[in-house]
Amino acid sequence: MSIEVKELEFFYNKGTSLEKKALDRVSFSVRKGEFVLIAGGIGSGKSTLIRHFNGLLKPHSGFVTVDGIYSGDKNLRSKIGLLMQYPQRQLFGKTVFEDISFGPSNFGLEGDALKERVNEALILAGLNPDISEISPFSLSGGQMRLVALAGVLSMKPEYIVLDEPTSGLDPDNKISLLSTLKKLHSSGISVIVVSHQIDDFLPFADKVILLKKGSVAFTGSSKEYLCSASSQVPVITSLMKDMKYRGFDVAVDIFSVDEAFNEITRVMRSKGVKKDE
Ligand SMILES: Nc1ncnc2c1ncn2[C@@H]1O[C@H](COP(=O)(O)OP(=O)(O)O)[C@@H](O)[C@H]1O
Ligand SMILES: [Mg+2]
Repeated sequence: MSIEVKELEFFYNKGTSLEKKALDRVSFSVRKGEFVLIAGGIGSGKSTLIRHFNGLLKPHSGFVTVDGIYSGDKNLRSKIGLLMQYPQRQLFGKTVFEDISFGPSNFGLEGDALKERVNEALILAGLNPDISEISPFSLSGGQMRLVALAGVLSMKPEYIVLDEPTSGLDPDNKISLLSTLKKLHSSGISVIVVSHQIDDFLPFADKVILLKKGSVAFTGSSKEYLCSASSQVPVITSLMKDMKYRGFDVAVDIFSVDEAFNEITRVMRSKGVKKDE
């Protein structure tokens, strides 16, 4: 079971003088249960790509299938959930409950089963079910984003796709969103995150796909990405690369300050430098 993206091409304003190729023969796959980071600079085609996953955009050539079903098919509506870049815009209900229950109630769920589904989704998204009777628009930006995520989770999707989920969040909301995503992933849901702020996700992504000008420039593990990429790596990885360039024999596939500290200490000790020197 997987998402398959094959030779996907997409143009904005096709056939006009403003025609712009946004995706150029993009191919990759996402296996069930994987945590995938789609990285790339602003304008590299990330949002355009994931709008193909649930049929918001239709390819000009190539295709996307989810577990063998072509994207755009209504049978995919509960299988794959998409959290847009500005998820506040996905909210519309007078209450949080109205918002989150919209999807499952359209699928025929009602009464206590519906309430239970909404509570479950709120808890999964890291929110307190007590907020279900208040207006989503009275919440902070970070909480609104989590409500929109709960709306996606209420459909019990097997894949969730999030566009720039940490942008604009304060540090506390960011930590809470990251831990929610890790939990969802360990519960067996495939998580696909699109971000140009890769530091947050590299440490636990199983696979990284880098887009450049609408094409896939790299596919591999996080560690492979750190070793191969010359730009767009976490600051701490840049430091290690710089040390290596200056002749220190340090590993460069490093994501965290702790790992960097251990590696630098190891190299210093191997050169005979002691703690208080
Ligand atoms: N609605 C649109 N009309 C025309 N061009 C667009 C539109 N949306 C995006 N583009 C262009 O397509 C390219 C890819 O955009 P996008 O997928 O939004 O990139 P990213 O999400 O990586 O920042 C960019 O050059 C962008 O300017
Ligand atoms: Mg985008």
